[in-house]
Amino acid sequence: MSRGPARIAPSVLAADFSRLGEELRAIEQAGADWVHLDVMDGHFVPNITLGPFIVEAVKRSTGLPLDVHLMIEAPERYIDDFVRAGANTVGVQVETCPHLHRTVGQIHNAGARACVVLNPGTPASAVDVVLPDVDQVLVMTVNPGFGGQKFIESQLPKIESLRARIDKLGLDIALEVDGGIASETIARAAASGADVFVAGTAVFGAPDYAEAIQSLRRLADDA
Ligand code: DX5
Ligand code: ZN
Repeated sequence: MSRGPARIAPSVLAADFSRLGEELRAIEQAGADWVHLDVMDGHFVPNITLGPFIVEAVKRSTGLPLDVHLMIEAPERYIDDFVRAGANTVGVQVETCPHLHRTVGQIHNAGARACVVLNPGTPASAVDVVLPDVDQVLVMTVNPGFGGQKFIESQLPKIESLRARIDKLGLDIALEVDGGIASETIARAAASGADVFVAGTAVFGAPDYAEAIQSLRRLADDA
C-alpha cells in the first residue's frame, strides 16, 4: 500500500470562534499539517457555517495550507471566491456536481488542488472516472452537517477500495477521511488506506492540542 505519512487537519468547526486567531496559532504550534474549513449552506446540509470572508481571515492568521470542504449546492458558483480567499485545496461533494469533470477543471484553473468528496451513501465508483484528474479524495465517515458525530464503520471497505484503485493506477492522490476521527477510530481508517485525517472534536476538545495531534498521528502511522 503506498499510503503517505499521516497528516492531521484540525477542523475549525470545533474551535472557539470568539478566539479564532488564537486557536489557529495554537494548532499551528501544536504541529497541525493543514487547517480544515467546513463550508455549509443550509441546503445541501442542514447547518450554516462560514464563507469566503472567514476563509480570508483564517488565511491571514496561519501559514498552514487551507483545506476547504464545500458542503454547498452548486459549488461552481463559489469556487473562484474561495480560492481567491486563500484555499489551497477545494473539496466538492460529488452529489452536488452533475458536471464533476468540469468542476474539477474549474478548481485547477482557479489555482487550487482539487478534492472530490463522497457522502457515506455514495459509492467509491462515483469518482472512478475522475481519479486521474484529482489531487485528493475525501471519504465522509459521518453524514456531513455537524461535528461530534459517530464514525460510520461501513465506510472502511470504501476507503480500502479507493486505496486499491489509486495504487493500481499509480496515482499521487491524498486519501482523506472526515467525521468521528479520534484515538478509537483513526488506526482503522489508516489501516484501510487513508493518509489525511480531519479531526474537529478530537483536537479542539482536547486539553492539550499538541498531545492530541501527536498521538493521532502516531496511531495512524503505526496502523
Ligand atoms: C462534518 C464536517 C467535519 C467535522 C468533523 O460535516 O465535514 O469536518 O467538522 O468533526 P468531528 O471530527 O468532530 O467529527
Ligand atoms: Zn469537513
